[in-house]
Amino acid sequence: MQKIQPSISGQDIICIETAAPATALVVFGASGDLTRRKLLVSLMETSKQGLLCEEFYLLGCGRKNFSDEQFRQNAQQAIQEKCSDTTDKELKTFINKLYYISGDYSDSSFYDKLTKRLAELDEKHKVGGVRLFYLAVPPFLYETIVEQLGKTRLACPDDSVSKQQVRLVVEKPFGKDLQSAAELNNKIRRCFDESQIYRIDHYLGKETVQNILMFRFANAIFEPIWNRNYIDHIQITIAESIGVEHRGGYYDKAGALRDMFQNHMLQMLALAAMEPPTSFEADRIRDEKVKLLRSVRAFKIEQLDDFVVRGQYSPGSINGKTVSSYRQESKINPESKTETFIAAKLFIDNWRWKDVPFYLRTGKRLSHKDTEIAIAFKKVPHSMFVSAGLEDMQPNVLVLQIQPEEGISLSFQAKQPGSKICMSTLNMHFDYQSVFGISMPEAYQRLLLDCMVGDQTLFNRYDAVETAWQLLTPVLETWENSDSLPYEYAAGSESFAQADRLIESDGRKWRKLAEI
Ligand code: BG6
Repeated sequence: MQKIQPSISGQDIICIETAAPATALVVFGASGDLTRRKLLVSLMETSKQGLLCEEFYLLGCGRKNFSDEQFRQNAQQAIQEKCSDTTDKELKTFINKLYYISGDYSDSSFYDKLTKRLAELDEKHKVGGVRLFYLAVPPFLYETIVEQLGKTRLACPDDSVSKQQVRLVVEKPFGKDLQSAAELNNKIRRCFDESQIYRIDHYLGKETVQNILMFRFANAIFEPIWNRNYIDHIQITIAESIGVEHRGGYYDKAGALRDMFQNHMLQMLALAAMEPPTSFEADRIRDEKVKLLRSVRAFKIEQLDDFVVRGQYSPGSINGKTVSSYRQESKINPESKTETFIAAKLFIDNWRWKDVPFYLRTGKRLSHKDTEIAIAFKKVPHSMFVSAGLEDMQPNVLVLQIQPEEGISLSFQAKQPGSKICMSTLNMHFDYQSVFGISMPEAYQRLLLDCMVGDQTLFNRYDAVETAWQLLTPVLETWENSDSLPYEYAAGSESFAQADRLIESDGRKWRKLAEI
């Protein structure tokens, strides 16, 4: 669907959106948290926008013994909690397309039951096209389900539905190191073609992350200065004020490097630093991302502490509320060595970025929620203002503010009116909310729609996942084989001495969190 609508500048803008074709969405883990918090709510919004086809249904699978009716009631509750502006009619139309079957994922008879149910529902809803299998289950179940889908030929049907239309959606974490990710890729690719596999990183569905592509490659003025000649360094931050919440069991085995760094952080790095793709086609963009990830310099294990610092939160206070330490959280080993904070310095060994440091940090229970990419430009090569007594001129910084206050800002020096010479740093700021007047759509809306439409642009290819693990596996192994512990930082702080040292030893400073 191509829409032309007036833009903020008064000129017409072209919006391209493709509505979903007839789709059967099979969600494994339908009684779980992800389905409740993200998938159902996102699909409801897509339906309200008229982008969900009439011929759509969702078949939830789970171990809990729900009837269709019970599943619908739970779904209705989840939707009403989040989408308060949904009319009864919209809700009813959507809810009536939901079904549920229960069973044991490792039992082949469950897949016979599934096949039968799909045939009935396909006929009832006149769905003969796209069939999505969504793995919203804990990762240890991925292989079992995929194998069974392969055996029963649900992964690769014979006639009516073409193979391309049957798709597998896999959530993160995808493996826990290089070996497990490669094994999982091999197992999945035995049953599904790469063209059928959609590996989710929900950061890629965020509007502001997608906008990195538009910003860099739809404007002629940034690319010529987007390199080592003009850029001093880049900082990428994902700071969270939340702790591990109810996910202690998973998180304590994962830690920040696996949970955030291997995927979200490296994906943002790839988009910010990759070469311009030749076209807006999935594989052209994914080729460039992989090429970039392959150029990240491997960490020298003997100097690891100079390049990667890990931390774990101790008790503290956030927004005036006392919070406990990581080790006191539910389902966390009281002697856990798991990191909840990572700061790292990376170099990209290619012509564009040679010797430009990329400082990346992510942590839980920090003072603010703040995700941003800050491009710090070099100082002016020669300042004529020194002779007039102005020595401390701040270099320009371009900030792509990903969340929670989505925007873009550019700082620059300007003369302050009044005195003969008086310079101050100003900010040119664009804020999505005030310009577009809408709140940002949930990342899963975009991603689910793209799975239905068959667009893999925002999904990770096997080689990107493995390249990211290849970089980080030696780090994980070093930590696992060492007795050293993460440094402590108080919950509610912004950073800690060792993380500061990582950047300050280069004569630079972390940006303040939530600084625009
Ligand atoms: C998930 C991580 O992938 O991303 C969580 O597993 C983290 O630990 C979450 O809290 C952050 O996502 P967002 O969209 O809130 O920044």
